[in-house]
Amino acid sequence: MRRKVAAGNWKMFGIKADLTEITAIAAAADPAVDTLICPPATLITAAVPAAKGTVLIGGQDCHHLPQGAFTGETSAAMLVDAGATHVIVGHSERRRDHLESNEMVRAKAEAAIEAGLIALICVGESLEQREAGTTLVAIATELDGSLPNTSTAANTIIAYEPIWAVGTGHIPTPDQIAEVHGRIRAILRQRLGDEADGIRILYGGSVKASNAAEIFAAPDVDGALVGGASLKASDFAPIIAALAASA
Ligand code: PGA
Repeated sequence: MRRKVAAGNWKMFGIKADLTEITAIAAAADPAVDTLICPPATLITAAVPAAKGTVLIGGQDCHHLPQGAFTGETSAAMLVDAGATHVIVGHSERRRDHLESNEMVRAKAEAAIEAGLIALICVGESLEQREAGTTLVAIATELDGSLPNTSTAANTIIAYEPIWAVGTGHIPTPDQIAEVHGRIRAILRQRLGDEADGIRILYGGSVKASNAAEIFAAPDVDGALVGGASLKASDFAPIIAALAASA
């Protein structure tokens, strides 16, 4: 039985005044599911006490090396030191804006796991790939290239985030989500054997209170990675409740 995950990616939103939202999300957290918020790195240290021990706190990216002369970067060990338990790697905005390759994402995931973090590895097809009918090939290439050999059910979560669904209000049908999640599970099995059955696969891209129940009813969906609708407890709480109801 895989424990479901309601994960929030705050992206470049949030200052200290917004920590009250994390406390409100903590009040809405359900013991039946894991709730995770990934605020900006500047807020991680303060987010941990605001989360009251019921919301997990994660980073949004990490460097693949433990330390060094890399201006502006944050290592996995630094995230651990700040109180993070998880880190997102390979988000489509990082792949697009920072030209992160599968090899780079894999190195970051390996560094995260090595530091004791749970790596939340994102994969997703572009609109062009979806329309050309090459979604499953694109997902296979991206996942296989981004997945460490050291991945286990305890240290890795996969997020399927179609790029065309992130921040757009468009979502795939439950059948399309189930098809991709099934392929992800098959690739995980090829690479990791039975261990693959314990790895959580989240859906991400325009998840809202109004569509959460439908998404969570799709087979092999173990939760969601939520952007915009995770910023306010009033938006995120019903998503947590929908996930708990499906657990
Ligand atoms: P969104 O973002 O929920 O705002 O579409 C999802 C994500 O980028 O993780």
